[in-house]
Amino acid sequence: MELKFARHRRLRTTDSMRALVRETQLHPEDFVYPIFVVEGEDKRNAVSSMPGVFQVSLDHLNAEMQELKDLGIKSVMVFGVPDHKDAVGSEAYHDHGIVQKAISQIKEFFPELVVIADTCLCQYTDHGHCGIVENGKILNDPTLDLLARTAVSQAKAGADIIAPSNMMDGFVAAIRHGLDENGFEDIPVMSYAVKYSSAFYGPFREAAHSTPQFGDRKTYQMDPANRLEAMREAESDIQEGADFLIVKPALSYLDIIRDVKNNLNVPVVAYNVSGEYAMVKAAAANGWIDEKSLVLEMFTGMKRAGADLIITYYSKDAARWLKEQ
Ligand code: PBG
Repeated sequence: MELKFARHRRLRTTDSMRALVRETQLHPEDFVYPIFVVEGEDKRNAVSSMPGVFQVSLDHLNAEMQELKDLGIKSVMVFGVPDHKDAVGSEAYHDHGIVQKAISQIKEFFPELVVIADTCLCQYTDHGHCGIVENGKILNDPTLDLLARTAVSQAKAGADIIAPSNMMDGFVAAIRHGLDENGFEDIPVMSYAVKYSSAFYGPFREAAHSTPQFGDRKTYQMDPANRLEAMREAESDIQEGADFLIVKPALSYLDIIRDVKNNLNVPVVAYNVSGEYAMVKAAAANGWIDEKSLVLEMFTGMKRAGADLIITYYSKDAARWLKEQ
């Protein structure tokens, strides 16, 4: 009897053959590099839970940007870590705050880099929440005005994209309105539309000094169990004027990335967050995994799931590894 079956292995015989039929490619321009900028001079503080990540002062910023440029990375996401915090996060919308200074410095020396401003209040508030707090509650509408002011001050400093991450309802509408009123109608909004309340943000809160001083973020960030809710969030942000949608975290939410990609026609961004980075770094430090292969496989998975861009602390390593291949 003659056996009949498909010979899938024909297309896997050599490196070149595999390259011909590869469906997903990674490029250095897929990566957005997040950077933490602190006040003061000659600071390059290691973040202990994120080996290879540093909080840098402005005098170290150009060296970092030069490195990105040399590696072919086209965009950077800037997080400010101010010395002074208060109840209403004043430093977030101060025209000469740390993040505004960092943005204008990058644009002065590296005009071709796309500078994305993270727009939130939690690094700037003394209570560590992303909005105004009254009687233990995080207020929605009064926070919107502060977010719009923050976005406008970042646009004035030269930001190319505004990326609001605080998960108040209506934040894209408020920011779009604020930008348009101030002559920034050409500045796109990259919304953290689908942001889950996640244990994977732990190491970031060390890096950004943004741990909430009471309670948690569950009244504004999403429940990890929900999928339909992600579509509601994404759809309303599109209606409010978002130009990109971020899904965050990435690894445990690849199904959500695919849902957003299939249902909405804007670029989708995956945020490979701090806890995902820390886990891989820890395993690599123990010699338990092959870091390079594993990281590139993770990113291939995110792109295959539908991500057009990946925000990751691994940007530089990944770009370097792609060059070596
Ligand atoms: C600010 C913000 C957070 C992250 C990005 N922007 C922290 C949070 O919501 O608590 C997390 C990024 C990461 O973990 O890498 N709201």
